[in-house]
Amino acid sequence: MDQTDVAGDIADILLTEEQIGAKLDELAAQIDRDYEGKDLLLVGVLKGAVMVMADLSRRLHTKAEMDWMAVSSYGSGTKSSGVVRILKDLDTDLTGRNVLIVEDIIDSGLTLSWLVANLRSRGPASVEIAAALRKPEAAKVDVEVKYVGFEIPNEFVVGYGLDYAERYRNLPFVATLAPHVYS
Ligand code: XMP
Ligand code: MG
Repeated sequence: MDQTDVAGDIADILLTEEQIGAKLDELAAQIDRDYEGKDLLLVGVLKGAVMVMADLSRRLHTKAEMDWMAVSSYGSGTKSSGVVRILKDLDTDLTGRNVLIVEDIIDSGLTLSWLVANLRSRGPASVEIAAALRKPEAAKVDVEVKYVGFEIPNEFVVGYGLDYAERYRNLPFVATLAPHVYS
């Protein structure tokens, strides 16, 4: 195998492309029911949410706008601290809007709870969250997430937007990495 091939870096595939697609069909149907007759603003959190935003938004029948934010969470290494800085803010005025935050993964929940409070302070009609993945064991804060794709074990995962040192985001599935990758 050549060094640029990622197959040798993967330990286990937790969720296949098919499983993710089937789950997004369900979530999109639920969102369509909940937002019937309303206008919807999808807010994606860069960079991890790119895949779920693309795949979820294409399944919606509800008229939806899309906007993006980039935030950085200060912390040691891979752990977030809840201290968040906005790197790229929304272009959209949230006054009276129905906002649905689209996220890749909720780990401690610290980033998202900060984000929800920040967006709520801008006068929207509603703020809800859709996340592809959630690690329940890692929850430090109780964030109410209306739409969750999958509950996954408390392990570091990559793929479907999630990275390790900016790599593996483009994998169509969610996987754990082989130990040699970290060393
Ligand atoms: P919170 O604040 O919920 O942070 O702890 C969530 C953010 O942490 C990153 N994260 C991961 N990234 N694999 C990744 O590639 C993981 O298993 C993982 N767990 C958390 C991610 O950026 C997420 O938005
Ligand atoms: Mg993220």
